[in-house]
Amino acid sequence: MEEIMTAKQKRDSVKKNYDLIAKQYSEEFGNYIEDLDVYEEFEKHLTPNAKILDLGAGSGRTYAYFNKRGFEYIGLDFSKEMRDSAYKLHGEFPYIVDDMVNIKNHFDNNSVDAIFAVYSLFHLPIEDLKQVLSDIYDILKDNGVFLFTYQIGKGEEMADEPYLNEKGKKVLYMSYQTNEEIKSLLNMFSYTAIYRKEKVETTENAINSNDVVTAFVLVKKKDK
Ligand SMILES: C[S@@+](CC[C@H](N)C(=O)[O-])C[C@H]1O[C@@H](n2cnc3c(N)ncnc32)[C@H](O)[C@@H]1O
Repeated sequence: MEEIMTAKQKRDSVKKNYDLIAKQYSEEFGNYIEDLDVYEEFEKHLTPNAKILDLGAGSGRTYAYFNKRGFEYIGLDFSKEMRDSAYKLHGEFPYIVDDMVNIKNHFDNNSVDAIFAVYSLFHLPIEDLKQVLSDIYDILKDNGVFLFTYQIGKGEEMADEPYLNEKGKKVLYMSYQTNEEIKSLLNMFSYTAIYRKEKVETTENAINSNDVVTAFVLVKKKDK
């Protein structure tokens, strides 16, 4: 990135971006479930009525899926427009509008059965990732599960936002991690690895225009 931005400026750019594209995003993804195999793997490790926290909940497709299956669902996303678009599509449901760097303001330690963070942590500034992973670990119950994605690569960039139709503007903050970086971050916590999958994104469906590989990781917090 040419210009030096603070972590807050990076997050603010992502929030502004999703506020702007919420309508288009929800039309395309609001009811579209992809990665069903990953959802099913996650579900296998949920107790009946488990409380799921969805970080970067977007326009509610995950809510629709898990609510139908009887789980308690709470979304969190800092884009109010995304929240409003989710409500338009699915009706009102528990949805916190806040930055995920503040999750500890909303959840006590050991209070959540499962955390789902799919296609969202790649917008978290690299310098915030360790703290957010630590907060996630704290609020998860023992034996709780955590599913997340990251995009395999190195460093960070401002990428084009495909929905804004402004090629070359580079408004969307993205961060990338190597498998080794994720492994050493996870090693700071007491997790058992459950599942991992890599998915090659094509130019058409990738969130930015690069060819990238998305990794899905499911881990379980060890019992003390
Ligand atoms: C690519 S969308 C994915 C939405 C949803 N998980 C899905 O699969 O449809 C990324 C979402 O993460 C949210 N997000 C990104 N960074 C965030 C942060 N720091 N705190 C809260 N939400 C964030 C964005 O507002 C956006 O709604």
